[in-house]
Amino acid sequence: MDFFEQAYHGRPPWDIGRPQQEIVRIEESGQITGDVLDAGCGTGENALFLASRSHHVIGVDSVEKAIVTARKKAAERGLAVTFIVGDTLHLSEIGRTFDTVIDSGLFHTLSDPERVVFVRNLHDVLVPGGSYFMLAFSDLEPGGYGPRRITKQEVHDAFSVGWRINDIQAAVFESHTRKEGSRAWLSSITRL
Ligand SMILES: C[S@@+](CC[C@H](N)C(=O)[O-])C[C@H]1O[C@@H](n2cnc3c(N)ncnc32)[C@H](O)[C@@H]1O
Repeated sequence: MDFFEQAYHGRPPWDIGRPQQEIVRIEESGQITGDVLDAGCGTGENALFLASRSHHVIGVDSVEKAIVTARKKAAERGLAVTFIVGDTLHLSEIGRTFDTVIDSGLFHTLSDPERVVFVRNLHDVLVPGGSYFMLAFSDLEPGGYGPRRITKQEVHDAFSVGWRINDIQAAVFESHTRKEGSRAWLSSITRL
């Protein structure tokens, strides 16, 4: 069984039962506009938060169990989010474009070749001028647990052509297993 399939048989560290504070912050500062795709949405807390703030949101994740949970939460909370079982390496299969894509903990799980495919897919599903927000574990977080760390240079390398990097800010990726969370980079990137 795949790592993520296995993870959702329990409660994974990132499944904190509320949106990530960095996602709340960028929404409250007005940076999230138009229709939103939550890539690798897990059990949907970020997508559901954005829907509660009147965004039209689609969440996609490869693990069916996570999507079933996300759909259940949406029904319980009376929020209209479309949750799809799908592969973020084949985003064009969704068949539409978005103004904003959020990524809370997806990019840092991808291998180098997968990053290239994902970035190409992102470019296809974002409208010109659309925004991509990536929250990923930072190289400033000590190793020994969790996903790969990402350097600012790796973000620049991955988004060097066809994109503008607006900023890469020091941030925190929250989990229920580490009270202080983990050091992360929050990247704001525009599709040209
Ligand atoms: C660290 S978790 C974060 C989940 C969610 N964004 C959150 O903040 O709670 C990464 C998620 O990406 C999903 N994922 C990993 N690779 C994927 C892929 N190729 N296509 C779709 N989802 C993927 C995993 O199933 C997992 O739910």
